[in-house]
Amino acid sequence: MTILLIGGTGKTTTRVAKLLSAANQPFHLTSRRGPDAAPHGYPAIKFDWTDETTWAKPFEKGDIDAVYMMEPGVSQPWVPMIKFVDFARDKGVKRFVLCTGSSAQFGQDGMGRVWEHYVNTGVDYCVLRPSWFMENLVEPGLLYTIGQLNTIFTACQDGQIPFISADDIAEVAFHALTDEKSHNCDHRILGPELLTYDDIAATLSKVLGRKIEHVKQDKASRCQGMIQAGVSEYVARLLTNLEVIASTNFEKRLGDAVETVTGHPPKSFDTFAEENKTVWSQ
Ligand SMILES: NC(=O)c1ccc[n+]([C@@H]2O[C@H](COP(=O)([O-])OP(=O)(O)OC[C@H]3O[C@@H](n4cnc5c(N)ncnc54)[C@H](OP(=O)(O)O)[C@@H]3O)[C@@H](O)[C@H]2O)c1
Repeated sequence: MTILLIGGTGKTTTRVAKLLSAANQPFHLTSRRGPDAAPHGYPAIKFDWTDETTWAKPFEKGDIDAVYMMEPGVSQPWVPMIKFVDFARDKGVKRFVLCTGSSAQFGQDGMGRVWEHYVNTGVDYCVLRPSWFMENLVEPGLLYTIGQLNTIFTACQDGQIPFISADDIAEVAFHALTDEKSHNCDHRILGPELLTYDDIAATLSKVLGRKIEHVKQDKASRCQGMIQAGVSEYVARLLTNLEVIASTNFEKRLGDAVETVTGHPPKSFDTFAEENKTVWSQ
């Protein structure tokens, strides 16, 4: 059974690749940047959702049984994704696992349209709906503002979020891709506690031994700040909207999907902060 990991350089995908590798499970990674983008020396194939001429490439390596996928940061991403699902089904793919977010609603514009397509076509599937990743805090933007400015800028205000580690998301994805019986459902993948960015800043201050401040911005300032930092206008608007929605406690929920699927509770933010403290101190 060979698995195709689209978005192979992403936060969850690289972790799924490690788990598949440890389980001696064959897989291919993809990246828009081609083989050189492969992490940890894994083979990567050039693939771009927005360039259909790249879609057949992974299948030239042999049969593929399951696909792990996530949306590109383009307008109406579900259009090429639905088309690719049909393309992959014609090539013999039986199972699809989609990593999306809490806001995906079955049948609605966004990843809900891809989810609906899975159900309508009768393929085996699983839709992962994680909350916000702890690993965002070690991505270049937040790494810089925490590491250099001792600041986290958001439009989340006092919204509570069950932050989740990409390690736990990847483990759920691994099961959804490889369990003998397809899950054929959605999983809300949530961390163990509800935290505001004030809580995150307080934990980082304690772990790093210096004051980290959460600066609460309005929608316009937040979006403009991201654009000035080099984020595309589309992505800046998308992320700002998600933060504004989170300020209304849209993300506020707890659940046991991680423990049910993996057999262990999800990682706490205290543990994540301890594991990564040197990264914010360099
Ligand atoms: N980060 C969060 O807090 C969060 C929270 C909830 C849900 N989610 C969802 O989780 C999913 C993954 O998010 P993430 O933060 O892990 O993203 P990520 O680390 O940035 O990974 C996204 C991947 O998509 C690939 N990609 C982007 N555009 C592409 C295109 N046109 N064609 C092919 N591949 C493309 C990128 O690979 P290359 O650049 O190498 O091509 C990258 O590896 C997304 O659906 C997101 O909505 C994220």
